[in-house]
Amino acid sequence: MKVIISKTHEESSVKVAQSFTEQIKSKPDSVICFATGSTPLIVYKELVKEYENNGLDFSKIITFNLDEYYRIDPRNEQSYRSFMTTNLFHKVGIEENQINFLDGHADNAELECERYENKLSKNPINLLILGIGENGHIAFNEPGTPFEETTHQVQLTESTIKANARFFESEDEVPKSAITMGIQSIMNADKIVLLATGDKKAEAIRQMIEEEPNEECPASVLRMHPDVTIFVDEMAASKLKGN
Ligand code: PGA
Repeated sequence: MKVIISKTHEESSVKVAQSFTEQIKSKPDSVICFATGSTPLIVYKELVKEYENNGLDFSKIITFNLDEYYRIDPRNEQSYRSFMTTNLFHKVGIEENQINFLDGHADNAELECERYENKLSKNPINLLILGIGENGHIAFNEPGTPFEETTHQVQLTESTIKANARFFESEDEVPKSAITMGIQSIMNADKIVLLATGDKKAEAIRQMIEEEPNEECPASVLRMHPDVTIFVDEMAASKLKGN
């Protein structure tokens, strides 16, 4: 596991965007798994700049995303599907037929998870980006999730509902459930980058990097992956030994 500490959120984001750019240039038909949340927003802005100013070609990539609320209409502006459309897909010319997304409106969550996992097995991910929750979650895999879990439905924890309430009018509107790639589905990616910024993430980052892998800190599983780079700003790195 490589750890790259930068001064600011912006500097870390520029470095993460560079890994995406390198990936797409070296393999234009890369399979890329994106994340939502506030953390990757600057990364996506940087990718839009690469597209507009330097012609980075997204037309052959295949996309996946980590997770989606359940149930939510994909057209609802709080859905993760809308987040990606607005912040990236529409801005860099990614078309519908390139996009794989968990359907937050599927009638049967279990069948939807199977459909997605099947798609993933046919399109192995080359590069996957993660954020991390304050409690160490990755995607919606909360503490206690078995490391061998594949795509599945989860009930959101109180702390995740509270953390996500900032995107909704009120906490009551946050869906109580979600469908998410499992830890095993994430670990199957060839290359993983994780971006974390701000002092609220410092304890989760410390546990992930300094403690043995354990299911109470889902992100700690990443220590067992052969190609992971953690990009953190100084605040998120502030609890690491020597900082
Ligand atoms: P955030 O979410 O980027 O909005 O902090 C990260 C996460 O919960 O995975």
